[in-house]
Amino acid sequence: MSSSSTSSSMASSSAPQTPPWDVHRLPACADRTFLVTGGNAGIGYFVAEQLAATGAVVWLGSRDARKAGAAADSIRSHVPGARVRHLRLDLADLSSLEGAVDRLDVERLDAVVHNAGVALDDPPRRETGDGHELMFGTNHLGHFALTRWLAPLLSAAPAARVVTVGSFAARSVRLDLDDLESAGDYRPKRTYSRSKLAQMAFGFELDRRLRAAGSTVSSVVAHPGGALDSLTPSRPPVHTTTAGERLRGLPAALMVQGKEAGAWPVVRATLDPDVRGGQMWGPRVFRMRGAPRSERVPAHMADAAVAARLWAASCELTGVEPHLGLLPAR
Ligand SMILES: NC(=O)c1ccc[n+]([C@@H]2O[C@H](COP(=O)([O-])OP(=O)(O)OC[C@H]3O[C@@H](n4cnc5c(N)ncnc54)[C@H](OP(=O)(O)O)[C@@H]3O)[C@@H](O)[C@H]2O)c1
Repeated sequence: MSSSSTSSSMASSSAPQTPPWDVHRLPACADRTFLVTGGNAGIGYFVAEQLAATGAVVWLGSRDARKAGAAADSIRSHVPGARVRHLRLDLADLSSLEGAVDRLDVERLDAVVHNAGVALDDPPRRETGDGHELMFGTNHLGHFALTRWLAPLLSAAPAARVVTVGSFAARSVRLDLDDLESAGDYRPKRTYSRSKLAQMAFGFELDRRLRAAGSTVSSVVAHPGGALDSLTPSRPPVHTTTAGERLRGLPAALMVQGKEAGAWPVVRATLDPDVRGGQMWGPRVFRMRGAPRSERVPAHMADAAVAARLWAASCELTGVEPHLGLLPAR
C-alpha cells in the first residue's frame, strides 16, 4: 500500500486518530510529578531529562548529592526551565527508605520509575549493609520496599504508574525460589539476570494485585534493550563519550543503542495514556534498539504462582508489603 493511499484511508475513517508516539514530541505534563531512581546517571539520567522536558517536576532518587547536583545542572542546561529536585535515596539500605519518602516533599506522585540498578561482572559475592546479596537486594528488594512507602503518594494521584525497568537478560533465566540470594551458587551474571527477572515478575504481580484491589495505580514493565555508554550522547560532567569511543562503538550500533534511546521505552511506559498496566515495553528492532513498542510478555515472567512465592519471600526479607489498594497507614 502506498503512503498516499494509507493517509487517505486514515483520513476517511470517522474514528478519532491518536497521533503516533514520537519520542521527540512528548505530551505536556506540567501538572505531574515523577520520581526516577538512579536519575543521576545512565538511562535514569535520560529518563529524567526527557520527563523534565514535558514540564513535569522530576525528582532524582540518588544516594550521592554531588552526582545528583551535576545531573540536575545538566538537565537544566538542556531543558530550559526544568524543575528538577534531588531525593537522597539508597536502595541498598532498606531501613532508610521510609525516611527518604518522608523527605519527598509532594502531595502526590504520578509515577515512580524503578530504574536504579547494580550489575556486577565478577566475584566475590557482595552484600548490602542489611546482609542481602547486593544485586538482588538493591535491584529487587530495594524497589519492592520503596513501593510500599510510596503507596500513599501514588494512591493520591488520579492514575499513577509504577514503571519497573527490567532487562532482556531476564528472558533466559529462571528464579531459584529456594536460593533467591545466590547463597549456594553465585555466578554474578546469572544473579544479575535473576534480580532483573525478580523485578519484572514483581511488576506484573503488582499489577495483578492492583487490579484485584480496584486501585487507580497501575504497574508497567519496560526495558531499554541494549544501551551502551559509547553510543550515548555526552552530558558532561555526568557522562562524556570521546570521539574515539564513539568511533569504536559504531559497529555495535547495528544491534544496540545509547542510553538516551534506552530511555525511550521507559518514558513511553510512564507517559503514554494508551499504555495499560501489566504491559511490557521495549525497543522495536530485535528488542534491542529503536522506537518503543509493546512486547508479548514471556510466560515465565508472568507466572503467577512463582510471583506469589517471590512476593511472600520479599515481604519476609524486607519486613514490608506494598499494598496500593488499601492505603497503608503511615
Ligand atoms: N545499559 C543496558 O544495556 C541495560 C540493559 C538492560 C537493563 N538495564 C537496566 O537499566 C537500568 C539502568 O542501567 P544503566 O545502564 O543506566 O546503569 P548505570 O549507568 O550503571 O546507572 C545505574 C544507576 O543506579 C544507581 N544506583 C546503584 N545502586 C544504587 C543504590 N543502592 N541506591 C540508589 N541508586 C543506586 C546508580 O547510582 P550511583 O551513580 O550512585 O552508582 C546509577 O544512577 C538498570 O536497572 C539496568 O539493570 C540496562
